[in-house]
Amino acid sequence: MEQTSGTELTAQARLAEDVRRDLGAVPKRLRPHYLYDALGSKLFEAICELPDYRITRAECRLLSDHAYEILAGFELPSAVVELGCGSGEKLALVVEPWVVSGRPLAIELIDVSDTALQMARRTLSRFPGLTVSLHEATYEDGLAEVARSREPGCGLLVAFLGSNIGNLDPDAAVAFLGDIRGVLEPGDRLLLGADLVKPERDLILAYDDPLGVTAAFNKNLLVRLNLDLGADFDLEQFAHRAVWNPAASRIEMHLESLSAQTVRVADADLRVQFAVGESIWTESSYKYRMDDLVQMGATAGFGVRDQWVEPEAQFAATVFEAR
Ligand code: AVJ
Repeated sequence: MEQTSGTELTAQARLAEDVRRDLGAVPKRLRPHYLYDALGSKLFEAICELPDYRITRAECRLLSDHAYEILAGFELPSAVVELGCGSGEKLALVVEPWVVSGRPLAIELIDVSDTALQMARRTLSRFPGLTVSLHEATYEDGLAEVARSREPGCGLLVAFLGSNIGNLDPDAAVAFLGDIRGVLEPGDRLLLGADLVKPERDLILAYDDPLGVTAAFNKNLLVRLNLDLGADFDLEQFAHRAVWNPAASRIEMHLESLSAQTVRVADADLRVQFAVGESIWTESSYKYRMDDLVQMGATAGFGVRDQWVEPEAQFAATVFEAR
């Protein structure tokens, strides 16, 4: 018999535990990071290419237009930490003018996916003069490692991009910015990419696209539970919904049950009943006003150094400075 590695076992057990708790809750929910298995990550990459999902392109435009200003004024040597590095292409835009002018820079990449880390390392290897360190870890653990190994007198920029902060509820978002602040010294920086409030029509199209890629991304979570936990979700009996909640300023993704049904999740020892129209809430994507971002940063101990908006997509990049 083949051996299952210890970490795989733990990951599966953790998934089972989370599913037991979160599908037993009212309302039913699942954690958004479970959307990103191998197929889910590919579907998210496809989302980033959709005409109606403008976050990625808008952010890349801002990063390349303002790359110089983002790192300008730092003392040498400096380090850049990216939380959730993906392919590393965004960070490449930021560091390009810096390394092209021959200045050394240490890069610390933090991601839970080793595939992403290796891809980002390859992307950044085109720049000589970069020292790249990989941390296969959660944001919290990765930041702690970076904090332990940081050299005194070295300026640090932490990048948290893609509006990934939007997955966190407001209290958790501020707490997380506070955690980042905790590893920084006064004068260090945080580069935050965040999507802004815009007309509801645009938001719905971004999260319920006519090609159905976002629907596939959302429903793939059920495919994953079928594969990884021996569940028997019938994909025909669930529909993708994207709802704008103006009071909370967030898009909510749901999987709505189209019939009264019972689903078994064998490896979580669970039976879940669904009423018609009952849904599993799979993700929140908060949308901000510029002011909200300034406020959240201030609460976490940051002042604003620069803030830019991509006007068509209404996406903001903010450079905070630790006070
Ligand atoms: C990667 C969390 C920023 O909320 O826009 C894209 C994920 N969900 N389409 C977002 C997502 C549906 C994305 N984040």
